[in-house]
Amino acid sequence: MEPSPLELPADTVQRMAAALQCHPTDERVALQLDKEDKLRHFREYFYIPKMQDLPPIDLSLVNKDENAIYFLGNSLGLQPKMVKTYIEEELDKWAKMGGYGHDIGKRPWIVGDEIIVGLMKDIVGANEKEIALMNALTVNLHLLLLSFFKPTPKRYKILLEAKAFPSDHYAIESQLQLHGLNIEESMRIIKPREGEEILRIEDILEVIEKEGDSIAVILFSGLHFYTGQLFNMPAITKAGQAKGCFVGFDLAHAVGNVELHLHDWGVDFACWCSYKYLNSGAGGLAGAFVHEKHTHKIKPALVGWFGHDLSTRFQMDNKLQLTPGVSGFRISNPPILLVCSLHASLEIFKQATMKALRRKSILLTGYLEYLIKHYYSKDKADTKKPMVNIITPSRVEDRGCQLTLTFSVSKKNVFQELEKRGVVCDKREPNGIRVAPVPLYNSFHDVYRFINLLNSVLDSTQTKN
Ligand SMILES: Cc1ncc(COP(=O)(O)O)c(C=O)c1O
Repeated sequence: MEPSPLELPADTVQRMAAALQCHPTDERVALQLDKEDKLRHFREYFYIPKMQDLPPIDLSLVNKDENAIYFLGNSLGLQPKMVKTYIEEELDKWAKMGGYGHDIGKRPWIVGDEIIVGLMKDIVGANEKEIALMNALTVNLHLLLLSFFKPTPKRYKILLEAKAFPSDHYAIESQLQLHGLNIEESMRIIKPREGEEILRIEDILEVIEKEGDSIAVILFSGLHFYTGQLFNMPAITKAGQAKGCFVGFDLAHAVGNVELHLHDWGVDFACWCSYKYLNSGAGGLAGAFVHEKHTHKIKPALVGWFGHDLSTRFQMDNKLQLTPGVSGFRISNPPILLVCSLHASLEIFKQATMKALRRKSILLTGYLEYLIKHYYSKDKADTKKPMVNIITPSRVEDRGCQLTLTFSVSKKNVFQELEKRGVVCDKREPNGIRVAPVPLYNSFHDVYRFINLLNSVLDSTQTKN
């Protein structure tokens, strides 16, 4: 029962329920969706935490041997089973041959990052030469801003979205300070309209149109960490560049979550981390993108020996032969153990493909949304019933896999009760609980179990009130 590409998730769920002659909330729908999921075997490539190992678990409420409901891939992706093997390969090499490992084996250490960079191409939609794997996200953001943000008396602003991730906010503030600029005047923050959570694209484009001549760099997140809003990156890029701005994106929550076409969209630069949807483990190796059109024009402001062309790098003559493009932004030798964990994950992405993952993701998150709306759409007659509101946009084009939920009852209580029952998600200030069913390793049955637990948690808060 293959859904048509144009079918909305809610229609798929209803069609399946009708075929099974049951209600859409029935467990059989979840089981059938899993049965028809061509990507379901990828779950086996990951370690899924067990209930008994979760620190906040209440063992009187769960079966200790059951899998947790892990909806936290938007923060830290699960561990691919091959990570250990790949790390052990390099530890073994180090133990056996020491420094010879730099040049030998499956991942010669001096080119460890280069060995796997090709696996990132299809995930971000770029040529290999437009991508570098290095450092951590905020470090890469700083390095890119040092090269792209060259303020002049007329063009001196950086445009960003309200409530950008704190690290991006601080990075921008400190870059402005580095140029001696007044933050109030130079940091142009676009806020949603009064009473709204989501930024409207027409409002973003209007600011670009009106103020673009004074904006040097537009730096948006690809997908907002709190609201889950997926920004229209091609439209922002086009509008910004038409006004002469450089346009860059922080793709922390977009990479491995939604399809990206950085090259075709003409994005000037981008950076991302790999520990969320790319499952490389905490503090994993981050990525940076500089469009091919800038290969010979935009140079790194800070240089190290790994920016020097490999063919002459080890001549040690201190005459810099800078590798063109983003590869020249690499400063130090690559951290091979971090390369290993990313390698294990990117190989899974290659097999699964972003296209297929996104297709599943739309249905998986759509199923979650359908069930939440079914149980918690506003029923004015019943004022005592707890309410759940989804602040993430409902159009699939405007979101990835994450939904951010707000509640009419205490978010803290709901979160704690979910945690006790083995739901791994997170809460973010001011009001949200973020839940992210990840298509690589979450099942439709996870969503079904989640909604039943949410129901029992909210029922118990209602009884207590
Ligand atoms: C949107 C966004 N930007 C930046 C960061 C900071 O990343 P890092 O600590 O890897 O520099 C995060 C971390 O979660 C993030 O979500």
